[in-house]
Amino acid sequence: MSPTQVRGKVVATRRVGAYHHLTIAAPGIPERTRPGNFVALAVGGPQTSMLLRRAFSIYRVSEQGPTGGTVEIVVGVHGKGTEWLVGCRPGDVVDVVGPLGKPFALPQEPVSCVLVGGGYGSAPLFMLAEGLLARGCRVQFVLGAATEARLFGALDAKRMGCPVTVTTEDGSAGVRGRVTDVLPELVRRTSSEVLYACGPMGMLRAVSDVATAEGAHSQCAVEEAMACGIGVCMTCVLPVIGADGVTRMSRSCVDGPVFRGTQVRWSEVGTVPADTLGAPKVGVR
Ligand SMILES: Cc1cc2nc3c(=O)[nH]c(=O)nc-3n(C[C@H](O)[C@H](O)[C@H](O)COP(=O)(O)OP(=O)(O)OC[C@H]3O[C@@H](n4cnc5c(N)ncnc54)[C@H](O)[C@@H]3O)c2cc1C
Ligand code: FES
Repeated sequence: MSPTQVRGKVVATRRVGAYHHLTIAAPGIPERTRPGNFVALAVGGPQTSMLLRRAFSIYRVSEQGPTGGTVEIVVGVHGKGTEWLVGCRPGDVVDVVGPLGKPFALPQEPVSCVLVGGGYGSAPLFMLAEGLLARGCRVQFVLGAATEARLFGALDAKRMGCPVTVTTEDGSAGVRGRVTDVLPELVRRTSSEVLYACGPMGMLRAVSDVATAEGAHSQCAVEEAMACGIGVCMTCVLPVIGADGVTRMSRSCVDGPVFRGTQVRWSEVGTVPADTLGAPKVGVR
């Protein structure tokens, strides 16, 4: 399905811990959004030199509203683009392209699932949880961050009636440590068959390893830096093993951002492994 480009109007903004929650009226996008899709926003205004769009996971959508359907995103400030975005006020216009990317795959059977979010990476997991619960799946959350302020979504998880385990690296909330410290025991205790994850690359790799060790499937939403967001520029490629066992440099914007954990060659992300289809004879960094 091709994405839509709309002049979105900011409807509401609010601070959530270390993040900013933006609601943007973007008619045409909500009704086609599935959990795991993302949007690419133009930043900096009409005179800007920031030509590249910035990608954001879709946190929630609403198909109705006084200003048309809305898309909600959760933004952490990294640099100039996100700084501009969080400075937007209700009524400001932001150019939005979406929905983009391949969504999370849902299981055919009502199985037990663990949803693992790192920082703002939890954002796309709540729409996913709704979809899983509607299929009769059991859903547990594990939400982690460096500090309590960088956690996102623990209240959402509780409101949905799902058990949630929180971890922080400094111990300011929940269990001190990383999400993967609590994951193996939780997967075993809940007989979980699928792990869904979104967050930093190191966390995704670790979640994928836990899933493999516990005999579970994993679906990981990666966050490779992107430029076009629509499959043209090859900025967002990472080495992915196909069903035929052959590694290809896959575009995370259109072939992902969600990949099966076992498909991604995590230790070689950022490189072109020598055995990649079409790679030069020697691996390139
Ligand atoms: C599919 C996808 C979903 C995303 N979802 C969200 C989201 O829900 N909320 C959110 O806040 N951010 C999200 N990001 C990251 C977001 O796109 C970057 O934070 C943003 O592009 C940074 O723009 P900037 O102009 O502020 O910073 P830049 O000046 O472009 O970069 C500043 C710093 O941010 C780092 N950075 C740039 N791109 C990324 C990235 N993709 N991931 C992590 N760090 C990056 C750079 O390495 C640099 O250190 C997502 C990225 C992708 C690809
Ligand atoms: S960002 Fe251009 S191909 Fe993915």
